[in-house]
Amino acid sequence: KLKSLLFALSAAAIVTGSAFAQQQPIIIKFSHVVANDTPKGKGAERFKELAEKATKGRVKVEVYPNSTLYKDKEELEALQLGAVQMLAPSLAKFGPLGVKEFEVFDLPYIFPSKEVLYRVTEGPIGRDLFKKLEPKGITGLAYWDNGFKVMSANKPLHTPSDFRGLKMRIQSSKVLDAQMRALGANPQVLAFSEVYQALQTGVVDGTENPPSNLYTQKMHEVQKHVTVSDHGYLGYAVIVNKKFWDGLPSDIRTQLEGAMKDATKYANAIAQQENDAALLAVEKTGKTTVYRLSDKEKAEWRKVLVPVQKQMEIRIDKDLIAAVNKEAA
Ligand code: LMR
Repeated sequence: KLKSLLFALSAAAIVTGSAFAQQQPIIIKFSHVVANDTPKGKGAERFKELAEKATKGRVKVEVYPNSTLYKDKEELEALQLGAVQMLAPSLAKFGPLGVKEFEVFDLPYIFPSKEVLYRVTEGPIGRDLFKKLEPKGITGLAYWDNGFKVMSANKPLHTPSDFRGLKMRIQSSKVLDAQMRALGANPQVLAFSEVYQALQTGVVDGTENPPSNLYTQKMHEVQKHVTVSDHGYLGYAVIVNKKFWDGLPSDIRTQLEGAMKDATKYANAIAQQENDAALLAVEKTGKTTVYRLSDKEKAEWRKVLVPVQKQMEIRIDKDLIAAVNKEAA
């Protein structure tokens, strides 16, 4: 009897031993909704490269760009279910998750410069916002930049009255809804993957996005006018499924944190140049007129849009808005 027990135990030890030795790599599915050739797309590829190198192949990162795995709304649900492990959604897309404070990043003219933005994302405000994701089963790892949005439509957008009656696509953010209504436009939430077709078929008349997104989604083919207004910011939160992240071996987690830190430096370093290049490329196609607001015109836009900050105090804690504005002071 003892003999057969010993035999069984040694057989089990051999099986687990070999399974451990040939342990499959830990898979991180990283899903996102933009083209590869964008700051977020390049940041995701750089993270893949750095993570696989740092963990010596014990982690394999599978990047699924351009909504090829999940579209906007689906991706957050998939992360919470653990169907994917990593995302980098726009900060404008956390409202439906019940974390509306991220919409502070959508407030018109809230960031006078990138320096102010980085003070917010790299300081206590950014950290506190990530803490609000934890009860949703999500861990925030980093903030990636994609810069200031331009407005686009098939008519010139020089003054706020030019927006009157236009159907404007927005992300799922109540602040952006209020922004478009303040301009007299009718906001319509659509998934990013549906924007080109909605513009092409006239479901919506116009939209807003950083030039890198406008260009890589070929929106210049269906938008005759772009206005450089610097009215609003678009950035990302790189997030993981909390259970997956906490369950990693601590040495691997530390290696992945290091890879994320370097990928973040890279993604933020290229964001401005990628958007500047995209805007020039849009102009060079000759299909779209790119208009830069004069200071006088910008003052008119601010007069209409800055009050949205006050209006949104009912939705976003006014102390949070004040704290962000204080960074700008
Ligand atoms: C959008 O939906 O307009 C953007 O959030 C897409 C993106 O992720 O940059």
